[in-house]
Amino acid sequence: MAMGSGKKLQGKIADPSLAFEGEKPYSWAYRNMPALVKTIESYGDARPLKGRTIAMCLHVTKETSVLAMGLKKLGASLYLSAANPLTTQDEIAAYLSSKGIKVFAWRGESSGEYFDCIRSILREKPDIVMDDGGDAHVTLHEEFPDNKIIGGTEETTTGVTRLKALSRDGRLGYPVIAVNNAYTKFLFDNRYGTGQSTFDGLLRATSLLMTGKKVVVSGYGWVGKGIAKRARGFDAHVIVTEVDPLKALEAHMDGFEVMPMSKASEIGDVFITATGQISVIRGEHLEMMKDGAILANAGHFDVEISVKYLEQNSTSKRSVRQFVEEYQLKNGKRLYLIGKGRIVNLVAAEGHPPEVMMMSFSNQLLSAVYISENYHNLENKVYDVPEKIDKRVAKNALEAIGISIDEVTEEQRRYASDWRV
Ligand code: ADE
Repeated sequence: MAMGSGKKLQGKIADPSLAFEGEKPYSWAYRNMPALVKTIESYGDARPLKGRTIAMCLHVTKETSVLAMGLKKLGASLYLSAANPLTTQDEIAAYLSSKGIKVFAWRGESSGEYFDCIRSILREKPDIVMDDGGDAHVTLHEEFPDNKIIGGTEETTTGVTRLKALSRDGRLGYPVIAVNNAYTKFLFDNRYGTGQSTFDGLLRATSLLMTGKKVVVSGYGWVGKGIAKRARGFDAHVIVTEVDPLKALEAHMDGFEVMPMSKASEIGDVFITATGQISVIRGEHLEMMKDGAILANAGHFDVEISVKYLEQNSTSKRSVRQFVEEYQLKNGKRLYLIGKGRIVNLVAAEGHPPEVMMMSFSNQLLSAVYISENYHNLENKVYDVPEKIDKRVAKNALEAIGISIDEVTEEQRRYASDWRV
């Protein structure tokens, strides 16, 4: 493990010599994230984040490297830790370190090391915390009461839910922008990003055919919708489980079979959780599953599938492929858990593709600048991304893809603002 010295911590990564390798995925992501590049370049030589220190707790991927380099170009000092112990791309960590970003992340951190890395970035007295999942925000609230944070951002549904709970309790210590709630984030990243990258992870891990399989998708939020849609694209038989009657009805109307997990567990071949909830697939379900069933989680935390039950109630456990563990239950059936039940698209693949992350991370970058410029006028609440930013990101993305659209005419503007026909 390479550790820097000096008063300010320089970071802790697996292997600095990977920096040369890391430049290639960085460049690949850069050329495939034109809307983010355009946003960064729109500032020219201005440095709206000059003097700001940002603690970033994001998955350390090639896409994150483009965001980090952009924030640096805008003048910020950056400290980066991972948003999950198993998702860091070590060559990217090395590349960013070689560019002067203080990175505390490596693939395969223990849970203790993971939180130590988060503490390391928070100790540097950041002005802004940029988080994915809420662990940095929560650690900051619990362990760093003496901070100078002017605001934060949050990338994902799970993190926004946690921050809203903090806010409801009157304990949120600074304004937070819920990047997750921007249309240009959840419509594309949560739905198409997760939809594609979940199968990317599942296929890399298993190398099995999805066509004709009974694929059970738990949760029909934006993530579940994307996964179900992609599963249908493989000509799988898709079953949705839900607890929300509206979403369950929507899944039915979208043409999917809907049933409780107690029933789905008996017939599914592949199970993918995407609920953000705890214990969605429990012991009683695992016991009912067919021999050979495959279990994967696409939610942020590794709590959706009861891994503890598998650990405590199996007669044997062995690794059968990279990212695939076989558990044999006492009833003799073998179940295959992908990526230890952690977020499958980032553990067994590379996460969402750059073309969706360019929108999510444009929102992150613009929200950081917005906080830097407007924090005096913000309360300690969870805010949506300002509509102006959301629209700007959509416009940039359309332009990057090469799509032009119509403009509202003067007659239409009048028509829309007047109730008389
Ligand atoms: N979350 C999901 N996919 C990601 C990616 N490619 N980079 C960073 N965070 C992500």
